[in-house]
Amino acid sequence: MSKVFITCALPYANGPTHLGHLRSTYIPADIYARYRRLRGDDVLFVCATDEHGTPIAVKAEKEGKKPIEIATRYHEMIRRDLEDCDISFDNFSRTTSRTHYEIAQNFFLKLYERGFIYEKDIKQLYCGECERFLPDRYVEGKCPYCGAEGARGDHCEACGRHLEPLQLEEPLCMVCGSSPEVRKSRHYFFRLSSFQDDIREWIEGSDMPSNVKNYALQWLREGLRDWILTRDMDWGVPVPLEGNDGKIIYVWGEAFLGYISSAVEWSRRTGKPWREYWDDGAIHFIGKDIIYHHSIFWPALLMAYGCRTPENIIAGEYLSLEGSKMSTSKNWVVWTSEFLEKFHKDLLRYYLTVNAPLTRDTDFSWDDFQRRVNDELADVLGNFLHRTFSFTGRFFDGKVPEPSGYTEDDLEFLDSIRDAHESVGKLIDEFRFRDALMFIIKLAKKGNKYFNDQEPWKAVKESPERAATCLYLCNLLAANLGRLLEPFMPSSSGRILETMNLSGGPWGFHELEPGQVIGRAKPLFSKIPDEAIEEEKSKLEAEDEAMSEEVTIDDFARMDIRVGMVMSAEKIEGSDKLLKLIIDTGDGEIQVVAGLAEKYSPEELEGRKVTVLVNLKPARLFGVKSEGMVLATGKTLNILDPRDAEVGERIM
Ligand code: 2FM
Ligand code: ZN
Repeated sequence: MSKVFITCALPYANGPTHLGHLRSTYIPADIYARYRRLRGDDVLFVCATDEHGTPIAVKAEKEGKKPIEIATRYHEMIRRDLEDCDISFDNFSRTTSRTHYEIAQNFFLKLYERGFIYEKDIKQLYCGECERFLPDRYVEGKCPYCGAEGARGDHCEACGRHLEPLQLEEPLCMVCGSSPEVRKSRHYFFRLSSFQDDIREWIEGSDMPSNVKNYALQWLREGLRDWILTRDMDWGVPVPLEGNDGKIIYVWGEAFLGYISSAVEWSRRTGKPWREYWDDGAIHFIGKDIIYHHSIFWPALLMAYGCRTPENIIAGEYLSLEGSKMSTSKNWVVWTSEFLEKFHKDLLRYYLTVNAPLTRDTDFSWDDFQRRVNDELADVLGNFLHRTFSFTGRFFDGKVPEPSGYTEDDLEFLDSIRDAHESVGKLIDEFRFRDALMFIIKLAKKGNKYFNDQEPWKAVKESPERAATCLYLCNLLAANLGRLLEPFMPSSSGRILETMNLSGGPWGFHELEPGQVIGRAKPLFSKIPDEAIEEEKSKLEAEDEAMSEEVTIDDFARMDIRVGMVMSAEKIEGSDKLLKLIIDTGDGEIQVVAGLAEKYSPEELEGRKVTVLVNLKPARLFGVKSEGMVLATGKTLNILDPRDAEVGERIM
């Protein structure tokens, strides 16, 4: 029995999970963990939500909430999603736990004491208006490469290039819209460059899959540069050294430690030593977008600390949706919870596994999902089990009959049942989950063919022993299918074994005693009707329409733009640009924060008619609620003046 430490990439607590997460990381890891447990290995399978980082802070700011409230909301949702998919973690924690803070800070300190972290002054953008250094994603400007407006401090959407905030032309603070200045700030760097050779040696000597190896070696050829490990921000794990108020450890500098802190939590609960599991070898399941982090940063951090590097890294490639890249901002995704409202979790586990090898990008399509469930799960697997159980019920009084006088066909069939666990196990050992599951489906197909060839419905009258032997072997296959499926579809596996009054057991061929009582056959996998698929597809079509650039007349009609009257106006403290306006819209007053202060004084606006969008989703600007938008020209800030119209009149 060996110990193994298995992890899944920590999901960011800024949104629920969708099928992309499940396909690349959580389902494969769970298949593997369950399989290793069945093999009798001592498995520690942990995960946590990754709760720091700018996107969570930004989301909190937009919603006028604290980052921890956002993180807690999504931690709960993610936990539920993963539980609902039967992901069998031994512990699921959070990177905002006290244990995590302690571990991350101690890790940082040890690296500092060992001389692997050093200080350096760097130039950064500082927003005088907001009185803070701006994280990469808080800055917007012109891309220096392609000239596109609205490029972010870390990335240009238009040309796809990685950017540094200081490269942006005409940068603007995304919170208040003012121009930031360049200021010096002291930061901590990790000596990543000194691990170049050690990492190469580690990667070359490992059994990692080629997608991980090739990427890593390519980056190593480009050469490693030291890595900035801290940020000026207040949401994160504080830098544990004197005189660093307002500095935190960069989220990627502490998230990895979430693997350890989740394991430590588990150790405290169970009294078992997590370290032994780590030292026997850790296997990280991740998505391909974070291969760099896991094959370069993390092993270097571990080497600097002086502990074992991971045994393996399994990186799942991308899942698209109906041929287009998934996008959470455009809602071009299938959320786990919505999927599970309509379909059984094992259909998801099945389809996302057989759809393609983990090492290849693939697509989720509703038609293909329906086809595979109907053709493979219902027609092949479900049909085989159903006819076996109902035939046993009808002709053998619900008891597994006694076999006798094996023919060559029987023996060949028996052999394929006997060998299945070994073949499937070997494929799982090689992380070829798709091939492993397809092997099981092919075996069920073989079962159907055998059943057809033997024609037990005839034999039962003409030579009952033949029918008995056939049904013995079919029940034997059913029992073994039940066990083979446990890692892939644990719930269905449980239902098969329950019908047969059997329990799960260690990985390997299982005998079946004649006389075993078989329960009533219940349909295990029913076909998905066309209407259910049409419904899902039309939901996506609606998203697609909503995404298109053109505006329909209905889109326009949804905007309630009216003539309003400014009842009062005042400056917003701390901002040179913003005014708080109370506007009479004809049927009630709304509060609007408008960026008009550089053009109009509050007195100039009071009593004036304005054109105002009144059904805008409320937001907070500078902590002040804003429920609408005053229409004005872009640069010159001239308000659209509807002086001839009545207050409350709608523009259409
Ligand atoms: O990319 C991500 O989703 C990160 N939250 C993964 C972190 S994995 C690990 F390092 F903790
Ligand atoms: Zn600002």
